[in-house]
Amino acid sequence: MRKKPLYDYPTNDYPTNDYPTNKRESIMKALVVYDSVFGNTEKIAQAMASALGCEARRVTAVTPEQLAGLDALIVGSPTQAFQALKPVKAFLKGIPAGSLKGVKVAGFDTRMDVKEVNNAVLTVFARAFGYAAEPIGKQLVKKGGTQAMPPEGFIVMGEKGPLRDGELERAAAWAGQLL
Ligand SMILES: Cc1cc2nc3c(=O)[nH]c(=O)nc-3n(C[C@H](O)[C@H](O)[C@H](O)COP(=O)(O)O)c2cc1C
Repeated sequence: MRKKPLYDYPTNDYPTNDYPTNKRESIMKALVVYDSVFGNTEKIAQAMASALGCEARRVTAVTPEQLAGLDALIVGSPTQAFQALKPVKAFLKGIPAGSLKGVKVAGFDTRMDVKEVNNAVLTVFARAFGYAAEPIGKQLVKKGGTQAMPPEGFIVMGEKGPLRDGELERAAAWAGQLL
């Protein structure tokens, strides 16, 4: 008599063909790059990364070579003196021309709400000189990327924060548009 195999699984019960064999490859490869002085932009970047199931990495820890093979790249900075921080600007400048071809890109910043700060000078200057997100987005497109979402600003309640209530959720939803 034939011995019963040790593992007698009814293999037909396993719908192996129903599983997409290329599931890993079909997952979007994204990266969120940020800088942060007081930690608020870092929190926003991390909320975005969790929404996308990817990594958020500080700009000083990213080289242009590490951008190879990405499907999506989000870059963010605190707004200081109406622009992005120097390391963010240097990072963007260092991305080789055309190397973001086929990559979905978007820029964001953190900023104060001029209405809340209620400072006439800041209001006038902010209107004239803007915020970090827009030039970040423009640079990403200049390097070949395709703008996935318009630049966005997330609000801190003072120079050091904290973030305004609901901004982490708004950041996750904003980044989630990439999916
Ligand atoms: C030196 C300095 C300049 C700033 N300039 C601006 C500005 O031009 N516009 C603005 O909205 N917020 C400005 N802020 C507030 C920053 O946007 C805020 O500190 C930042 O969003 C906090 O992010 P972080 O915690 O990631 O550093 C400034 C803050 C500092 C310290």
